Amino acid sequence: MFYFNGKEEITLDSDNIPKHIAIIMDGNGRWAKKRLLPRKAGHKAGADALEGIIDACKKIGVKHLTVYAFSTENWKRSQEEIDGIMDLLRSYVKKYTERAKKDDVKMDAIGDITRLDLDIQESIKNLTEATKDKDTLNLHIALNYGGRDEIRRCVKKICEDVESGKILSSDIDESIISKNLDTSDIPDPELVIRTSGEERISNFLLWQIAYSEFYFSDKLWPDFKEEDLFEAVYKYQNRNRRFGGR
Ligand code: IPE
Ligand code: IPE
Ligand code: MG
Repeated sequence: MFYFNGKEEITLDSDNIPKHIAIIMDGNGRWAKKRLLPRKAGHKAGADALEGIIDACKKIGVKHLTVYAFSTENWKRSQEEIDGIMDLLRSYVKKYTERAKKDDVKMDAIGDITRLDLDIQESIKNLTEATKDKDTLNLHIALNYGGRDEIRRCVKKICEDVESGKILSSDIDESIISKNLDTSDIPDPELVIRTSGEERISNFLLWQIAYSEFYFSDKLWPDFKEEDLFEAVYKYQNRNRRFGGR
């Protein structure tokens, strides 16, 4: 398969496309600042950029795309910014629900969405229901998501299962932990991408990234295009994954 990476033609090996790509969509605020626009305009441009990346993932056959949209730490931001992000979320969830009939993307949320406004929780449930039979790409949107909070909730669920006698503490193995995370039905991401030049995890998918490959881009998220995704997959395909072996 030949693709353009912004500079030249590259060949992607169709047998080695990551099944799961996870993206930390960072840099919306700086994108807006550079244009003397309010931060909300950056988040809007970021949501638009995501649409292009969804299409790019479909083109190359990625099965799962998880995107970090709002972290458990993002509540520290100004109420004005949080309200702006939640408004955008409302309108995008609505837009995707209306498009659900003709689109082939299955969507759900990971993270503790019970902290979001009730109407947003409802509309996310509707969107999940409306797209549950789609099978081209699974889009998982991380909302009020934090890797540590996810592990905390997972430990709580497992303790409850031990207390109720459903399992014994000696039964607890890695697969029980994986199954009690928000990502229970999703394979671990082979590739994690972060934009905006920051090279950190910021509490994203802590358990699941044990053996992920990382790709850091200096582009701000609203500027991250299809060709950048292809380049990230190209770099991924040229890495040597060893998983602790030789
Ligand atoms: C990422 O962009 C989106 C969210 C965290 C909601 P930022 O808003 O963090 O953008 P910068 O890092 O300030 O540029
Ligand atoms: C991570 O970005 C969270 C999302 C992209 C939603 P942040 O901008 O919140 O992370 P830090 O503050 O740079 O670590
Ligand atoms: Mg940021």
